Amino acid sequence: MLVYSLRTRKTVRRSAPTASERFADFLPLKKYDPSLSLSVGGTPLLRLGNVIDQFGLPEVFAKNETANPTASFKDRGTVIAVQKALELGIKKIGTISTGNMAGSTAAYAAKAGLPCLVFVKEDTPQDKILAAAVYGAMIIKVQGDYGGLFRKSFEIGRRRGIAFMNSVDPFRIEGYKVTSYEIFEQLGAPAFRAKTPVMVLVPVSAAGHLIGLIRGFRDLRDLGLISKLPVLIGVQASGCAPISRAFRRGSDQVERFPNPHTIAHAISNPTPPGGELALRLLREFGGFMMDVSEPEILRAHALMASREGIFCDPASATPLAAVLKLKRRRHILLGARAVLIVTGSGLKAMEAILDPSRLDIRTASLETLDKAL
Ligand SMILES: Cc1ncc(COP(=O)(O)O)c(C=O)c1O
Repeated sequence: MLVYSLRTRKTVRRSAPTASERFADFLPLKKYDPSLSLSVGGTPLLRLGNVIDQFGLPEVFAKNETANPTASFKDRGTVIAVQKALELGIKKIGTISTGNMAGSTAAYAAKAGLPCLVFVKEDTPQDKILAAAVYGAMIIKVQGDYGGLFRKSFEIGRRRGIAFMNSVDPFRIEGYKVTSYEIFEQLGAPAFRAKTPVMVLVPVSAAGHLIGLIRGFRDLRDLGLISKLPVLIGVQASGCAPISRAFRRGSDQVERFPNPHTIAHAISNPTPPGGELALRLLREFGGFMMDVSEPEILRAHALMASREGIFCDPASATPLAAVLKLKRRRHILLGARAVLIVTGSGLKAMEAILDPSRLDIRTASLETLDKAL
């Protein structure tokens, strides 16, 4: 079945096997190639029944993006950016990363047969460096300011013919839209017509993901599939919350966040390049930013694993921390259905388990095994 919109002049191919193919008209490619996709997307929407019961919450779901090929949402953007690079005849690609984007870009480069260069911060954990290098990419650990590295990468890319697909690369952002299409399909159209709104909570660093999600829902509105956008809530760690702070102040300018410090390393960006556009879009479509403290993040991180069986990155626990905070504050939106985007796997951020002594880990021999129980 086809849905054709006169307004957008675009078609949704309802019977195609993946959301990327169903909504291919909305992607910036001549032709989407599933053979280079590593089977990205189609991630589960899981109901968090135990957390709902424990805290008396309304419906809460996790969109589990750790089920993507390299265990993070970044694959959604990389698959489109890499296919665009092939379409444009680009011969080398690169990225700068604190971890997840490095592995994602390196994996898709390997599949597409393109050499890949990755700049990482000098202090990036060794596990994350290996998880990118294993795909054959060249990794350079760079000392100095991450914001400066962002600008420098484009300069080097221009001189050396390397397409740097960083956090707010326009094609990467277009790829993130597919998550919104999937959430719409999985929750079902009636949820978006109900009186209580849907809210979608997402961890924010550079803000590329948030911008892409808003654009995806805007496509659905332009198609006439939903009448208004869900309430998008961008979540940052209070220890590095430049966009949340600007939102609270009513400012449309994002200022550098001084002395960033948080366990949620994946979202610790003091100078987010997409911050100002995110603020504009949130205000236009009725979303907002908030931030959560370190104890709130750690508690949510533990709840996700021990109550729901989802081992996520601390950054990915910020949406649950935010829902619990809204509940404590008796926020007006509390009756809404909440979708938490779980952006990355805990296996790539083992340092978040600060105190293993609080876990139940015992040692025994064959003889003492019974006693150890
Ligand atoms: C696990 C995780 N969550 C969230 C983000 C934030 O995404 P964005 O930089 O597009 O805001 C990142 C970015 O690196 C990440 O790795």
